[in-house]
Amino acid sequence: MATAPIEFNPFDPAVVADPYPYYRLMRERDPVHRNATIRTWFLTRHADVCELLRDERFSSDGTQGERYVPPPPGRGRPGRSMLVVDPPDHTRLRNLVSKAFTPRMVERLRPRIEAIAADLVDRLADESGADLISRFAYPLPVIVIAEMLGVPARDRAQFQEWSAVVVRGLDPVLDSETQEAVFDARDALVAYIRGIIGERRREPADDLITAMIAAREEGDLFSEGELVGMCNLLLIAGHETTVNLIGGGVLALLRNPDQLDRMRREPALAATAVEELLRYAPPVQWTGRVATEELELGGRRIAPRQTVVGILAAANRDPEVFGDPDRLDIGRDPNPHVSFGRGIHFCLGAPLAKLEAQVALPMLLERFPDLRLAGEPDPRPTWNLRGLAHLPVAL
Ligand code: HEM
Repeated sequence: MATAPIEFNPFDPAVVADPYPYYRLMRERDPVHRNATIRTWFLTRHADVCELLRDERFSSDGTQGERYVPPPPGRGRPGRSMLVVDPPDHTRLRNLVSKAFTPRMVERLRPRIEAIAADLVDRLADESGADLISRFAYPLPVIVIAEMLGVPARDRAQFQEWSAVVVRGLDPVLDSETQEAVFDARDALVAYIRGIIGERRREPADDLITAMIAAREEGDLFSEGELVGMCNLLLIAGHETTVNLIGGGVLALLRNPDQLDRMRREPALAATAVEELLRYAPPVQWTGRVATEELELGGRRIAPRQTVVGILAAANRDPEVFGDPDRLDIGRDPNPHVSFGRGIHFCLGAPLAKLEAQVALPMLLERFPDLRLAGEPDPRPTWNLRGLAHLPVAL
């Protein structure tokens, strides 16, 4: 067996096109891998990724890392959100909104989610083909989060444009033109959110932004910047993730006709199917942390301020944990995938994302029994948020 040193380069277009062979190579040959050029550690084993996300000696605050480059003064700074802070601030911020996202609260949205999905499906009914991303996978979660927060429907298209640029900033290194575009889009988004907060202050409504403003005014528990950061995080998370679960999920089923058939015959498998699609095609491929002290992980020594990336998508295919990991099996149970992370930053929106997919996928398959691919799906160019720009289907 070849034992030449490997170097994982996440900017190689071949990695973005199909990262799984690279993940496997790393997991087998160098599971705690250091790329010295980009000064980053990459973890690919399930156990190591879980350890990274649970060990409080790792921080979520990237500004503490050796690789942090601050944006130019006054530019590209969204307010800090729970995603990028540690306790006690993390605990305080997460507690402010966690009630709105519990499985019980989210279940109350089911009729509305069903109505939105049914309306989108109805609009497709007279057509022979469509781009499933723009006509179904994208609008569903976007309408849901916009309604929860209270963002006016008329602004959706503009918002969508900024959000797509902002998330390019999640990839580790950018050329200067993209970096500028990311700063511009972040600034535009923050200005927009400040505008909405101002509107809700003048005219309160029955939505999450109004509730957060009220909480801030009553208890002064969080700053104006943190309020902006929270809205920013929820809007972006609601726009850029579930679309890829639904879009990537449909594609995975179309490419595995035995599993597609099984799903049609046994719609009761929706819950395990959604977990399996999350494992098999994770919308968020990785998440990073910064070491706050010298420590050891998987037999390697990590220095303070070094960046460690846990590749969730690689952990999800670790044969130590998942039998036949490259196989899609919509009945797989148990399924301890890490697509929503682990530990204190475990995805707040997980119950919502799962419910949306559990409603959307069976409805789509029932309504269009002949659903099939009608051309090459068009991947988005980002490594972290893995998804499709277009998914042409015949209906
Ligand atoms: C399939 C869809 C989704 C996936 C795969 C996903 C994935 C993730 C992951 C991996 C994390 C943890 C990041 C880390 O540990 O560094 C996370 C955190 C988070 N997600 Fe999601 N997410 C999804 C949908 C959503 C939705 C719909 C919302 C809300 C509208 C949301 C809100 C959040 C928030 C607020 C956090 C930060 C939690 C914290 O820091 O305590 N997510 N998500």
